[in-house]
Amino acid sequence: MSRFDYLLAKIGEAPFLDEPFRHVEIVDFFSEPDFAQLLEAPEIKTEAAADDRQLIDQLGKLSYKPIEFPGTASNIRDYLDWRDDPGCLHTNIDTCEGFGLTFRLQRPVAGGIVEELNDFFESAEFRRCLMEKFGLDEEGVFPDVGLQKYLAGYEISPHPDVRAKALTYMINVNPDPASEQQDYHTHYMRFTPGRSYVEAYWRGNPQHDRCWVPWSWCETVKRQSRNNSIVIFAPSDDTLHGVKANYDHLPAQRTQFYGNLWYNRIAKTGKPTWRDFEIRPTPDRRARTTLRQSVINHMPMKENLRRIKQTVLGR
Ligand SMILES: [Fe+2]
Repeated sequence: MSRFDYLLAKIGEAPFLDEPFRHVEIVDFFSEPDFAQLLEAPEIKTEAAADDRQLIDQLGKLSYKPIEFPGTASNIRDYLDWRDDPGCLHTNIDTCEGFGLTFRLQRPVAGGIVEELNDFFESAEFRRCLMEKFGLDEEGVFPDVGLQKYLAGYEISPHPDVRAKALTYMINVNPDPASEQQDYHTHYMRFTPGRSYVEAYWRGNPQHDRCWVPWSWCETVKRQSRNNSIVIFAPSDDTLHGVKANYDHLPAQRTQFYGNLWYNRIAKTGKPTWRDFEIRPTPDRRARTTLRQSVINHMPMKENLRRIKQTVLGR
């Protein structure tokens, strides 16, 4: 039994939404008193910082550590270099303009609400509830959850998630009272009509993993901007989402409980990148020539001979 068992009932009762893909979204996820207590937790409501270095120092004292996370620098020095000079971007990701730092809380305050929630999200009951909701087999999955803060510049271009991920969820617990107006919320997306063949490729080739794609290949259908909201989905070929955190992180930081259920083992034999999906059209002149040739090739033979005679003999 946990004081948070009411969250299991909320997930169980929530309807599925289908735009832009199958997911569950619950606003007002935590009860009002629980959410108010959460926003006052020292791990969430941090002091305003004067500059990046002071902020990173403060987060370190609270036991936040930068983690290896897609779209981020794992190295504080690289991040500060980039903040000082946006020209020096230490990343090999070629679908993003920026990168940030993701900090995960390592040791919540003993007996505090964040610790209680971490334990709840890691519990077998919570895992079972999620798997049942999405009709997934509970065997062979393990949870990974934590409280995270994402600094300015954090960016993940649209992607559906890798096949090893069985389920993912994000809960907004932003300490900024004006967080809903900030430009750092997750985009839920679909391919533009001209790029939907990429999704078809993933669907037809389950042995290949899925990759990040450029922003321009997708369109945003909705954003998860509500504070105290959760979005849950089971990654599939159409579950495109992305994020770009464009904001001032010194007064308050984008903060989420971020959780996944991972498959222990999944076989895949390759991972085409977005460049493999680029189709370069034949240049126009060549296309015209090819078309003309193909028309001639398909003319009835008599007509073809007449044309050749006309060309060669001038009649
Ligand atoms: Fe993702």
